[in-house]
Amino acid sequence: MSTTNRPLVIGNWKMNLDFVESVHLAQQIGVMLKVKPTEHADVVLVPPFVDIRSVTSVVTSERVPVAVGAQHVNAHDNGAHTGEVSTSMLKRLGVEWVLVGHSERRSMYAMNDAVVAATLRASTKSTLHAVLCVGEDGLVRDDADQEAFVEAQLESALHGLDESLRPLVTVAYEPIWAIGTGVTATLEEVSAMTNFIRRVLTRFSMPASRVLYGGSVNAENAASLMGEGGVDGFLVGGASLKAESFLAIVRAANDCYAGKR
Ligand code: 13P
Repeated sequence: MSTTNRPLVIGNWKMNLDFVESVHLAQQIGVMLKVKPTEHADVVLVPPFVDIRSVTSVVTSERVPVAVGAQHVNAHDNGAHTGEVSTSMLKRLGVEWVLVGHSERRSMYAMNDAVVAATLRASTKSTLHAVLCVGEDGLVRDDADQEAFVEAQLESALHGLDESLRPLVTVAYEPIWAIGTGVTATLEEVSAMTNFIRRVLTRFSMPASRVLYGGSVNAENAASLMGEGGVDGFLVGGASLKAESFLAIVRAANDCYAGKR
């Protein structure tokens, strides 16, 4: 099972790059996309909160053909939530995308399934495009329980989400054991899981939602992950911190899709 979705490539800068470095990277990406446009792929840059304003300024003033996302958002509208930001604050900055339930938020910042579900609801209600992150750790994979694990994550996040909001959801499969390790999931593993996720999404009337892969994606493995892995794009960490390596992945996705159409 694969789709003909237009690819989406997201650069998650995590807690890297201050605002000066972020501006520099966004400008470099802008120049490189002007020299060699990638018309068959959507691109989203996801800087740290404190860099967002600077990055959206570059994107707007230099007409860089990318959207800007945030790495996290609080599910509440406002109030006593020290250290958090709301969907309306992000939207006011020109943010159009948000990552929801990244494994680093789940494992290090106590983001449980209930909070993930509330955050997904709040994000989509505010018309932000939400990237719901799912994926198992190495122990779950060793026990061959990855499908049941990911299914439970999807069900708890999507259950109760108004049907009208579901088109705003993209799913990113990021096996934790592949994140930042240099160990990419095999094409068979990626293909089996994306097919499985698509079957679950069909049950939620979301057969056309994009399914991304994340975990040590680089310029060398991107084309085959799209082709044989069958994903609709990538959530990229380390390789998104340099314009050359990030755009090589964007180009691989772009060329794959252009060839398929
Ligand atoms: P890496 O690409 O560095 O493995 O990170 C993946 C990730 O967590 C993106 O959200």
